[in-house]
Parts: sequence; C-alpha cells; structure tokens
Amino acid sequence: MARPSLAIQINGRIEFDNPFLLASGPPGTNGKVIAKSYDLGWGGVVIKTISLEAAKVINTAPRYGKLRGRESGEVIGFENIELISDRPFETWLDELRQLKKHYPKKVLIASVMEEYRREAWHEIVRRVQETGVDGFELNLSCPHGLPERKMGMAMGENPDLVAEVCGWVKEVARIPVWAKMTPNVSHIVEPAAAAIKAGCDGISAINTILSVIGIDLRTLRPLPTVEGYTVPGGYSGQAVRPIALRQIMEIARALPGVPISGMGGIETGADAAQFFLLGAHTVQVCTGAMLRGYEIVSELKADLEKFMVDHEFTDLRQLIGKSLGYFSTHADLVQRQKQAKAEKAVASNRDAETWKGAIAKETEALTTN
Ligand SMILES: Cc1cc2nc3c(=O)[nH]c(=O)nc-3n(C[C@H](O)[C@H](O)[C@H](O)COP(=O)(O)O)c2cc1C
Repeated sequence: MARPSLAIQINGRIEFDNPFLLASGPPGTNGKVIAKSYDLGWGGVVIKTISLEAAKVINTAPRYGKLRGRESGEVIGFENIELISDRPFETWLDELRQLKKHYPKKVLIASVMEEYRREAWHEIVRRVQETGVDGFELNLSCPHGLPERKMGMAMGENPDLVAEVCGWVKEVARIPVWAKMTPNVSHIVEPAAAAIKAGCDGISAINTILSVIGIDLRTLRPLPTVEGYTVPGGYSGQAVRPIALRQIMEIARALPGVPISGMGGIETGADAAQFFLLGAHTVQVCTGAMLRGYEIVSELKADLEKFMVDHEFTDLRQLIGKSLGYFSTHADLVQRQKQAKAEKAVASNRDAETWKGAIAKETEALTTN
C-alpha cells in the first residue's frame, strides 16, 4: 500500500504538508523558534497572540502550575496565567515578513486580539495581512487577564459580540479567518455558529478551561502564587482532552463542512487521530510541546501515519468525522440494547447456540421443573 498522505488543503487555499500545528502560546513566541519548528517538521504555526499595544501586556513570574498523577508523577494537567505576547507589534510584523520570505511553503497563522473597537480590529488585520501570513486566528477565548479589558473570553462567551467582531474582521480580511472558541460556555456551538454566520472560514477549539490548579498546603496560598496571591487561570494538557473532544464533536455535528482546527491535550498521534475522527481537519499542540519539546512532531506524524496504515486510510479526509455518526441519545442506546438482547435471546433458542457439549447443564437450562 502507498504511504498515506498527511497533506491537507484548507479553505481552498492553505496547503499543509502535514496537519500538525503549534498552537498559539509559548511554542510560537518569536520568529526564531517558529523557524526552528518549521525545520523540525511542523506543518504550521499559530503565533503567540499579538495586539497593537504590547506595552499594555505585563506578565508575572511564576505563571504556570502543574497537576501530577498521584502515583506516576506525570504531568496530566497544566494551568497558566500567561497573557498574550508582550513583544512590540512592529517587531512581530517584521518577523512575520521574514518567516514568509524564508518559509513560503510553511503555514503561518497570525493569532490576533484587540479591544472591542471596530477601528482597532481593522487596523490589526490590515497591517498583519500585509506581511503575507496565510490566515488569521481570532483569539476570542483567553480566559484570564484580558477579559478584564473586555478582550478574549469576554468576547467569545457572547455570541452577539462574536458575530460583531468577526464581521468587523471580515470587512477587511483578504485571507481565511478562523475564530478560536472558549470552552468556558454551556453551548460552544452558539458562538461557533455566530462566527461562521458572520463570515469566518473556520473554527479553532478549544482554548484553555478556567481553573484553579491547587493550593500549596504548606503556605495555604493558591497556585501559581504571585506575591502571595493568584487568579484563576487556563487549564490545558492531557486532562482537558475529553472535554475538547466533546466540544469538537458538537461543533462538527452542528456545522458540517466547516474546517475545524482541534486542540486540547494532544500529545501523541493517537490523541490526534481521535480529533480527526470527530471532525477536526487540522490539530494544534501547545502544552505537549512545552512539556516534551518541539521534536515530538516526528513522533506525532509517524504515529498518525501508522494509524492510517493499520486502517487502510490513504488520505486524511477519509478519517475526518468518521466516528461522528456514532453519537446518539441515551434513550436510543437503551432501545438498541433492548433490541440486541431480544435478538440474542432468539439466537440462543437455536440448537447450534444451545448444545455446546455440557449436555446435562444445557438440558437443565431448557427444563422448567
Ligand atoms: C502557557 C500558555 C499560553 C497560551 N497562550 C495563548 C495565546 O497567547 N493565545 C491563544 O489563543 N491561546 C493560548 N494558549 C492556549 C493554547 O493555544 C491551547 O488552546 C490550549 O492550551 C489547549 O491546547 P493544549 O492542551 O495542547 O495546550 C496558551 C496555552 C498555554 C499553556
């Protein structure tokens, strides 16, 4: 059998040589590390979210917290209270231009975020798209810090604001626009549908889950502790994967055909395969790369390829959404089980099912007295 292809085209124009992207965050924090990740084989990079006024962004240290397995000690969950990029906008524009010049075939997605002002969104989109990036990801989903400025999740949790901001962006964007969703809502389909209705070309999901990673039982202070205090942050890593899978499934079922870039706890090719099976077209990795290094991309690609060979898939499109049809209602499950039991009972009345050799027992089972 021919080697399966990991290549995929999205929005009729973005060509990925493989579907593994670094998600917006520390892995794509400047031009140098983005170039390194392309060299190592990542199919694309979503840059750390940028805004027009980096001077307003002030981070703390520490700003991360880990949740470890009780016995293994393995990091299963990760919390951060990190803000968007604090690097100057002009520096970013320059680096984006350079990256497109040196890596024209690698996909570069600009993650952007602005305040609730039409002119600000117009300006950031106009200026960033001049650098030649392949697409935008709108960060409507950061759960901490930025909502205090009515940015990030403060926009993304409100479908009307999502529609309005996406509409502003689409007024000036000449390249595909993906809206990145917050998982911190009851019905993720509502903001996702609002973004698509407003003209967005794809959905990215999920951003981090609002969380408190724990309390230091020595000091009694919550983590990560900054001068004795903290703020709830964003939870990511392996532990969030089931929630991400559920929300990807809901978006894919509600918005068939819309390209989804799925993320949340992907650390292996097997993790990624599950996102494709539930409707993702590309996948992104943030925490996995932070904990295990940029190099994991080779393993991710090899594992996904192996999975495809085992199932005789030759093209990614053959697995996208393949498991979506197997979600139903609980009442339907009960009905199916009832029917299966009835069929089994009928089957066991047949001689071939009855007489297996333990004849005394089998005779007893057919006897009423
Ligand atoms: C330290 C850290 C910083 C992040 N910064 C951003 C950001 O600037 N913009 C953004 O859209 N998402 C950001 N994210 C969220 C990730 O892109 C991703 O949505 C989330 O972490 C789930 O994926 P993962 O489990 O692979 O990390 C950040 C995540 C982490 C852990």
